[in-house]
Amino acid sequence: MKARKFAKVSTKLPGVKAAAVVKRTAEYVSPSISRFYPLVVESAHGSLVKDVDGNQFIDFSSGIAVLATGSTHPKVVKAIQEQAEKFVHFSYTDFYYENLVELSEKLVSMAPGEFAKMVYYGNSGAEAIEAAMKLTRNYTRRPLFLSHSGAFHGRTMGALSLTASKPIQRKGALPLVPDTVHFPFPYCYRCPWKQTFPECDYYCIDYFKEQYLEKFVPVDEVAAYFFEPIQGEGGYVVPPPEYFRKMEFLRREGVVFVSDEIQTGVGRTGKFLGIEHFGIVPDVVAIAKGIASGLPLSATLAKAKIMESWKPGQHASTFGANPVAVQAALATLDVMKSERLMENAKKMGARAMKRLRELKDKYEIVGDVRGLGLFIGVEIVKDKMTKARGEKEAGQIIEYCFRHGLLAITAGRNTIRVIPPLTTSEEELDEGLDILEEGIAQINSVVAKA
Ligand SMILES: Cc1ncc(COP(=O)(O)O)c(C=O)c1O
Repeated sequence: MKARKFAKVSTKLPGVKAAAVVKRTAEYVSPSISRFYPLVVESAHGSLVKDVDGNQFIDFSSGIAVLATGSTHPKVVKAIQEQAEKFVHFSYTDFYYENLVELSEKLVSMAPGEFAKMVYYGNSGAEAIEAAMKLTRNYTRRPLFLSHSGAFHGRTMGALSLTASKPIQRKGALPLVPDTVHFPFPYCYRCPWKQTFPECDYYCIDYFKEQYLEKFVPVDEVAAYFFEPIQGEGGYVVPPPEYFRKMEFLRREGVVFVSDEIQTGVGRTGKFLGIEHFGIVPDVVAIAKGIASGLPLSATLAKAKIMESWKPGQHASTFGANPVAVQAALATLDVMKSERLMENAKKMGARAMKRLRELKDKYEIVGDVRGLGLFIGVEIVKDKMTKARGEKEAGQIIEYCFRHGLLAITAGRNTIRVIPPLTTSEEELDEGLDILEEGIAQINSVVAKA
């Protein structure tokens, strides 16, 4: 085992203090929250996290793809402190403040598309999606929504209607918003039609046309098509390069394209938005997670002509565009530029991909490695031939990582995410990958013996 510079675990996990917090949490906090392992955070800086018992971990989770600039970036902290001393709240539902316009101008200039755009603000990813649902129905005066199986767009009733990631998320909440239609996402590693790309010639799109549009979905009644450019919670699934371009025929039928960039946005894939890798310009974009480096903020950007269909009073949120969160977002975008974080995401992403692809060749349980920038998934299988999902094995690997000082988490049933902060250094990345490899090697040998 290589000597560790960053990962330092010296107690059993959870340690005494962590175990006490876990116990109190179980008593007072909703059991609807599912956690990967008992990490109890005491402090976090950059890509390093300390727990309440003094153990130190390398962060490959970014607080679930949120900490774009790492934890407590000094410039973000300063921006928060300075704004908190001026004013903490003055609801944008009824009053004005300038940093909000500044952020809107920045977001509009950074998002792709040479057309006028406007921004609506909420507090969470789900709220950004709810806003997009209301907006696109209002603009088109059409009832239907399209989204994908495997999609994750949030857990509130509207957003949940578009989500089709795990049955537990819907359990007990049905019925949801009617008239949402899910169709298969191009998950080439597990193609539902057992085809191979590129020989398949995008059969998935032919299937969608034949089995959906020609059978039961009147396209002229579809308000919007919601998609993640790369599915996140569905298992870090990267679609083939021409997929969204080929889907553009829907736009000619008046369907609004909504790119859910809540997980893929804010530089994570090496570009500001994930969809920029796929050669189309969406009409509406939902951003959250990384935008304010951890403060709650979401933005729904839309073509001005779409957002102008809303009249005063049609949609708002008391806490949306909180001025402290807005200042944190401005600092986040400044840091992204001054520290060239998108370049770092590309560089570190390529470094991680190279190493992870080697692991794929080396270990039977690594079925697939895919991603863009620092948005990478490692799909764990029981064996490469059958591709049987290694759900238990993926869980065992991240548990191993935790016990050895790396915070890795899964997506979908059996994919391990590699999503460190965009500020991550080569040294931190390499040490994290060393621990991940040890975990994979150990579980691989257990599977091989079984
Ligand atoms: C792609 C995507 N959309 C929407 C959401 C929901 O965001 P939130 O949890 O902030 O409501 C998430 C959260 O993981 C997400 O990954």
